[in-house]
Amino acid sequence: MKKRAKKMICMAGICGVVLCVSGCGITSNFPGKEKKRAELKIGISVYDQYDTFLTEVISRLQSYAKEKEKDWNITITLEIQDANKSQLVQNDQNDEFIKRNFDVACINLVDRTDASTIIDKAKKADMPIIFFNRELVEEELERWDKLYYVGADAFKSGQIQGQILIEQCEKDFASVDRNGDGIIQYVMLEGEAGHQDSIVRSMYVIDEITKAGYKVEKLADEIANWSRSQAETKMTQFLSSYRNEIEVVFANNDDMALGAIDALKKELGTKREAKDNGTPWPYVLGIDGTEVGLEAVANGEMLGTVLNDGKGQAERMLDLAYSLVSGESLSEEIELIDGKYIRLPYQKVTAENVAKIQWNMQETIKE
Ligand code: GAL
Repeated sequence: MKKRAKKMICMAGICGVVLCVSGCGITSNFPGKEKKRAELKIGISVYDQYDTFLTEVISRLQSYAKEKEKDWNITITLEIQDANKSQLVQNDQNDEFIKRNFDVACINLVDRTDASTIIDKAKKADMPIIFFNRELVEEELERWDKLYYVGADAFKSGQIQGQILIEQCEKDFASVDRNGDGIIQYVMLEGEAGHQDSIVRSMYVIDEITKAGYKVEKLADEIANWSRSQAETKMTQFLSSYRNEIEVVFANNDDMALGAIDALKKELGTKREAKDNGTPWPYVLGIDGTEVGLEAVANGEMLGTVLNDGKGQAERMLDLAYSLVSGESLSEEIELIDGKYIRLPYQKVTAENVAKIQWNMQETIKE
């Protein structure tokens, strides 16, 4: 196999940082690793360091680790690496975590159908793995009892996105169905081909709306790989074919919704300008509740988004890693489904509650 790419790319400017040092030790509960220890060493590999949502997850992981060093009275080392969208690079990073005797690895798989190399090697070395955000198939997770997954309930995010539009339809159907034909014409911006969140979100949002009795017509859909710039290009193409016909833009995440908004501003002018010119914007809906996404809901450019609890995912990952190494049980509020899964709920964000959610986020950053 290719020699390991030595380049360790840092996210958020931090790479392999020992966050705090303290004296007291904890005892590992891993078979064959019983020894006094004063350190929890976690290797983290993310599929792409430029992904906005994951950048927020990692940043919360770093701040939570600082907090928990004090509470648990240990040193926590987080080594964060970017797999740069290559499964081979990620496999090599995992090898390095094993070689350097890390206690746990947190892996955000590049290719969710290709976890076997990582699993085989981790099992051989007895290093538990917490997969996160990109869910591998259940059979893979069953292959060893020290494999876990932390993420969200993907299908609920699609349903909640649908509910946001339904609320708007109930309030003022004419504002959605601008051509008055009784059918909602929409375009869809999808994440990655084969990603569980893309598939499930695209399906459940439409399912929810049609179940509520509304008729829909898909004008176009395109994959934009969670990327703002790719979504802008796709939306520009949609507008060249369906300029005045698009009533709703569903995006599988906030960055793509923002890319669609960038295109709308360039092609139609700002929301207000477009309205004055008699070509009002379509409603745009995202998912994630990133800082920039929330801002777009607050300023009215986005009708709503669905909070993907990155803070909760980061915290539960660290709690689980600590519990695995220390042998202490997880807090009772944390449900470990089938002994393997921790799933965080999504939350609806619209103009009504966005200020509160932004305030909560600010408090978290200050912590
Ligand atoms: C999704 C998230 C996207 C992107 C993707 C990467 O859960 O909504 O914005 O981060 O994960 O796997």
